[in-house]
Amino acid sequence: MHAILTSLFLLVAPQEPAHVPPTPPLNIRCGLGADFHAGRRAALGEKLGNEGVLVLRGMHETRDYTRFHQDKTFWYLTGVESPDAAFAMDFETGRQVLFLPPHDERYEVWNGERWDAGDRWVTPLTGVDEIRSVDDMEAVLDEMIDDGDRVWISYHPWVTLSGGYDRAQPADNAQARDPFDGRPNREKQLKTKLEERYGAAVKNCAREIIELRLVKTEEELDALRRASVAGALAMNEAVRSTRSGLGEWELDSLMAWVQRRNGAAGSAYHPIVGSGANSLTLHYQANDRRMQDGDILLIDYGPEIDHYVTDITRTWPVNGNFTDRQAELYDAVLAAQLAGIEAAKPGATIGSVTGAANGVLVERGFSSLIRHGVCHWVGMEVHDPGDYATVLSPGMVFTIEPGLYEPATDIGIRIEDVVVITEDGCEVITSDAPKSREDMERLVAEEGILDVLDGEDPAAER
Ligand code: GLY
Ligand code: MN
Ligand code: MN
Repeated sequence: MHAILTSLFLLVAPQEPAHVPPTPPLNIRCGLGADFHAGRRAALGEKLGNEGVLVLRGMHETRDYTRFHQDKTFWYLTGVESPDAAFAMDFETGRQVLFLPPHDERYEVWNGERWDAGDRWVTPLTGVDEIRSVDDMEAVLDEMIDDGDRVWISYHPWVTLSGGYDRAQPADNAQARDPFDGRPNREKQLKTKLEERYGAAVKNCAREIIELRLVKTEEELDALRRASVAGALAMNEAVRSTRSGLGEWELDSLMAWVQRRNGAAGSAYHPIVGSGANSLTLHYQANDRRMQDGDILLIDYGPEIDHYVTDITRTWPVNGNFTDRQAELYDAVLAAQLAGIEAAKPGATIGSVTGAANGVLVERGFSSLIRHGVCHWVGMEVHDPGDYATVLSPGMVFTIEPGLYEPATDIGIRIEDVVVITEDGCEVITSDAPKSREDMERLVAEEGILDVLDGEDPAAER
């Protein structure tokens, strides 16, 4: 009996504590690959003269019941998609330390796997040799930072899923200015703490990171293309399902489902589903109106996949037939957009692309109906950061999205695609969503998923 017990024990005796599997769980990856993220760190080091210590802090666990999503800057430089991580790198010696929380069995029982300092698979997965507990971070930084040493941090406001610096920064500023709050943002607080604790000369390296982000690598372009295909499929399904009486929110949720089905982590930004007069509100968010026969419908929506996003707008008539005025404005916007795409090539600028597109609208007498710019950078954020005076070169990614907005007729028209600058022009990566007037009319007439669900005849009056 004793012998049997012993051999049974030997059969099941773990070689390591149960929480230290040698390979990562199947769904865990290091972002776009360890080489991509190591390459970004090396490129940043080069821009910073390979001097000083870089300190990065990932996001804490969420404070609501939403899925954890890493801050974009932290993810770009590490690929770590797990809460409560931090990272330090001495550019002079090359020492890199990834800090992870200590193992917490109870946390994982409730929330599932969290990367922890005991997970042996983290080093082969990330290529970072030194994995330490976050509890050791103060001591390790004591070793790495001497009094007066240069310490690099990014002041770029933290941004996760559906976020953008252009929403985050004003919100952070309002909080800091609020006489009944006054908390500085997380990045300013990190600066203060590092200065106080280590006597460090803290410097902002957001500009250098933004410069790197402006030119996408092949891995990034692949993720942007995947997001764009998923977004285009979702847009096409929204067009097919359009009919009067349907709620704007129904198309918003249909698109969310199609995008998720095609690999999206979630939305790159809140869906804009504006029918009738709602098409005039540039970042309309309520999506709570039922569409009417005769309305124009403007949808601006895109997913995020692997931290990269897309941004697509299409506009079409709810009943599938453009009125004369809708068609006149639509044709002008489409001609303007095609002129913008034609102008997007190495050597051009966002300014010259904008000029080419808006020139068409002005020429057709619609200058008073223009409400917004034509282009913005796209990448990990829908309005990605970057200098708008930059001369375009291969690998730069941005939108071309002219629009016309006529309150007198409740017609808002915008057509938006994402382009990548190539050696001799640009590639429209959202082209799986058609946009000719004929294609829009044809698609509305096709049977959509909501037609099937509701038992609607697509050939009937829309
Ligand atoms: N999706 C928001 C924009 O086009 O800027
Ligand atoms: Mn846009
Ligand atoms: Mn958009």
